[in-house]
Amino acid sequence: MGPGVLDPLLADAGLAPAPDGSLAMGGVRLAEVADTVGTPAFVYDAGTMRLRYGTLDRAFGGLPHRICYAVKANSNLAVLRLLARLGAGADIVSGGEMLRALAAGFAPQDIVFSGVGKTDEELLAAMAAGIGHLNIESLAELRRIAMLTDFHDHDVAVGIRVNPDVTAETHPYIATGKGGLKFGIPRDQFAEALEVIDAAGRMRLGAVAMHIGSQILQAAPYVAGMERLLELLEQARTAGHAPGVLDLGGGLGIRYRDEVPLDPGAWIAPLRGMMQSSGCTIHVAPGRYLVGSAGVLLTRVVFQKHSGGREIAVVDAGMNDLVRPALYQAWHEIVPVQPSGAPMVRIDVVGPVCETGDFLAIEREMAPLAQGDLLAVLGAGAYGFAMSSNYNSRARAAEVLVDDGRWAVIRPRERLTDLFRDEVTDPFAGKDS
Ligand code: LLP
Repeated sequence: MGPGVLDPLLADAGLAPAPDGSLAMGGVRLAEVADTVGTPAFVYDAGTMRLRYGTLDRAFGGLPHRICYAVKANSNLAVLRLLARLGAGADIVSGGEMLRALAAGFAPQDIVFSGVGKTDEELLAAMAAGIGHLNIESLAELRRIAMLTDFHDHDVAVGIRVNPDVTAETHPYIATGKGGLKFGIPRDQFAEALEVIDAAGRMRLGAVAMHIGSQILQAAPYVAGMERLLELLEQARTAGHAPGVLDLGGGLGIRYRDEVPLDPGAWIAPLRGMMQSSGCTIHVAPGRYLVGSAGVLLTRVVFQKHSGGREIAVVDAGMNDLVRPALYQAWHEIVPVQPSGAPMVRIDVVGPVCETGDFLAIEREMAPLAQGDLLAVLGAGAYGFAMSSNYNSRARAAEVLVDDGRWAVIRPRERLTDLFRDEVTDPFAGKDS
């Protein structure tokens, strides 16, 4: 990959050469971080997150709006606190994310609880905490909430997440706006949903919502979805409801390779008229856009080998650390932290996990690698650590936050003994059956 294609990716990530020629993020040499905390390690740049938040915030101009950060993308408390301080709300999908959001300092009323399968326990905890909206995704869930509110004496504002039945071009695993998928209430059940709310004593319709998918690069599906939301808003008003919020969900894509992402201005522009005429506060729920480019995964080359005419670099980060290449065939750019300038060769960059699908890159054009070389995997700020696991009994990586020349560990590397701390070795020992 030539420098022309790489430059915007480095700029997106706040990466630039340090005086010694090695790669630095937000004024911190990545080699220094790796030498101190070891690898693999996720490193996030606070400056990039602030920049992204500010750009999106300003794109709304004077329109009443709230950016509800999708916690699932990166739920480290330091990342959450940073975004809460900027004025973000939070979009959560589990009781665990709720606890994290509250612990990081989000006000309960600034939290929206989405998700197709909330349990009674999660719903009651959300009501008790005074969560802003429960975004419901099925009639069954709505009826369940009606029952719980009556029984437990709670008032609750719900958002109806509608399935707008629009197609967004993205990986099929992360497209959510098409009819027949598990997400949202089909439009033809909207009237019935309103009736359930009417019949329930303590529920009110606070929002009409959608989320059409993730890593979306065009505005058109949002425009199509928004048109449908406005029709339903009208229908709700006619039926006597007064929702104050229109929620467009997240999904704004980023550059991983040579994509041309939609900048927030170009995203909002074709929607502005409709947003204005809705008379509602507009909610958006981006995850990846705010944090994806702001993170790298640092990994070192453990061994090199040649096999079947291929050049293979085995690195110390695997699919348990960053599953996106294995799961979505996702491209993550990989750059040496100390550039060599040597002519490019084709290399398979693979992890240590015992699966053929455990790779970060296949036949990637890059300068030759040697044992011990430090690499930065770009675009790892979203759905990186958050999707990591302990597969192969590997400790989850350290996380580091960089902020304008300073850096701090925001989650230490897991200790291997912690991985089996709560396991019971011999559960029936001494107990006769
Ligand atoms: N709101 C809802 C209801 C969602 O389900 C999602 C993401 C978002 C907001 C935020 O979407 P974003 O702005 O980050 O695109 N693991 C996949 C992405 C899964 C997205 C799931 N839902 C990946 O690594 O590409």
